Parts: sequence; C-alpha cells; structure tokens
Amino acid sequence: MGIHPFDNGFHVTPEQIDQFRRDGFVKLDGFLNADAVATLLDRVDVEMSRAPDNFKSEFSRLKYDFESEKTDVYELLERPYFQQALTSLVDRDLFLTFELCFELEKNVSKGFPWHVGVQSFGYQVAEEFGCTIWAPLHPIDTKSQRGGMAYVPEHVVSGRFIYDQIEPAIISTLEAKERAGIKTSMDDYFAMRSGILNSPTMMDILAFHQVEDDFAPGDVLLFNKYVVHRSVMLGEGALPRRAAFVMRFVDIDSHYDLQRAMNLEYPAEKYGYKAFTRSHIEIGAPDGARLADCSYFADRDRRMIRRAPTPPTQLRAAHGNP
Ligand SMILES: [Fe+2]
Repeated sequence: MGIHPFDNGFHVTPEQIDQFRRDGFVKLDGFLNADAVATLLDRVDVEMSRAPDNFKSEFSRLKYDFESEKTDVYELLERPYFQQALTSLVDRDLFLTFELCFELEKNVSKGFPWHVGVQSFGYQVAEEFGCTIWAPLHPIDTKSQRGGMAYVPEHVVSGRFIYDQIEPAIISTLEAKERAGIKTSMDDYFAMRSGILNSPTMMDILAFHQVEDDFAPGDVLLFNKYVVHRSVMLGEGALPRRAAFVMRFVDIDSHYDLQRAMNLEYPAEKYGYKAFTRSHIEIGAPDGARLADCSYFADRDRRMIRRAPTPPTQLRAAHGNP
C-alpha cells in the first residue's frame, strides 16, 4: 500500500494494552494525524448541518445516522497502523457499525449523564464485545474549559449489568405495571433508564473513581461498551463549541439480538417517542444473524478491521518446526 495522507507512525505500547484490559478504556495520544483530524472535522460539519433540532437540552447538535459517503472513513480504517493498533488492543477482529457526532455548546449543553451505550450496542447480543473510538476534534483542557468526558474503570464499576439485566427488566417492569392497572409514561421509561447509574449512591461512587483526561485533536479514547461514562460540560473559555466524532465497532463475529432491538423500540411504540435513530430495528435481520453479514451495512468488506496474518516463519517457530 502506497503513502496515504492518513498514514501514521502510531504504535500501541504494552502498557496501553494492559490498561485497556484492566480498565476497559485507554487514551491513545496522536492516534489520528492532522490530515485525518481535518477530514473528520469537515465530515462532522456536514453531518451536524443535518442534525435534528430536538435534543438541544443535552447537546447543541448530535447526529446518529451519517448520510455522507464513507470513502474517507474506509481509507482511515484501512491504514495498516489503524488495524494493527486497534486489533492489538482489543485482541480480536472488528466490524464498523456506526459513526456519530456530538457537539457541546459552551455553558449551555449538559451532554449525557452517566450511561453506557445501550442505544448504539442495543441490537447486539449483550455478552458480545463492542467498543467505541471517541475523537474530540477540539482541544480539551481539564484544568480550564473542560468539555470532555469522565469515565470509570471497568474493574471498579462495570455497566455490563445494565445491558444484560436492567434494560430487559425495565421493559418487563413497565409491562407488569400496566397489567396491574398502573399507567406508565415516557417519563417513567426514561427515569428508569437513567436512574440506576444516576442514583445518589451510584453518582457518589462514580464521582470518586472517575477519570477525566486532557485531549489534543488527534488523541482518542478507546473504550468498551461496558465502560460507564458521562459528558463534562464545556465551561467558560475561548472555545464556543466542542465537537467529537465517534465510531462504534463490534466483534466481527457478533450477532443481532432481535428481542433487545425490539426493547429499544418500546418507547416509540408505547408512548410515541421519536428516537434520534431507529437503526437498531432498521437493521432488519433475523435474530442471531451475524452483524458483519447484514445487508443493512453497505460495503461490509471495507468495515472490517482484521489482525495481520501471522508470518509463516513465526508460525513454524511457534510449532517448533524448522
Ligand atoms: Fe456515550
């Protein structure tokens, strides 16, 4: 492969691999070069201009289903450094599902409170691996204007129980209430969804274990889907807004969970909630389908991040052959 503007000498260190295993997240300094950052900033600008205007209380703008063609993103994914670094960190092959972007406005947008990515990974089997690359495109200085994210090491609190227990239990609880003649509302649904991780006790635990990093454009955070995280407000300072570009990846052999996708549809069907994405149900696959085979995702081959094949000389050495 010839020289590409997104090529980068980035290499992961053993310490970064250890941290990702232990904490579920790791900050990667200089993961994207200046060309890649500039391209993503353009991409996010275009998508933000199409953002729905009904989530102003959380982000000034947010976009889930990107409409722009993905050539630039595929070219980034195809860089050898990108594939090498990502697969070494997660120790598996990956498949890109979605891109997203979020914008905070100074002193206005609160962002999301403590959560895990139940929307973005809500159609995947709960026990299967998923992860996010979060790339802020403006500088984040935790000592002044902030505007980044806070996250809690997975060995302290893991959000796994939200996926495999709480989310299904919320639906069965609301259904049981209705059967008992207790009327439920959209507010009840969302209060239950955010209430566990934002209860006073949990907020106390999370606040005293949270990590908040500085970022320069090009630095990214890699975190798995069980990492509990929240937005940090952008305070007073020079930046009027802070944009972030996000990519979601799933294990290349992970599967669609139709029941969980239908659970995400519950507020739309029951209370008429207009979700900012319906991608979980639009995937339209049978239960148990391999996500990397679903025709909903165009250009499936270009979404794959694979480990480099082991050179034959190393294989021979591993087997003790001459
Ligand atoms: Fe999130």
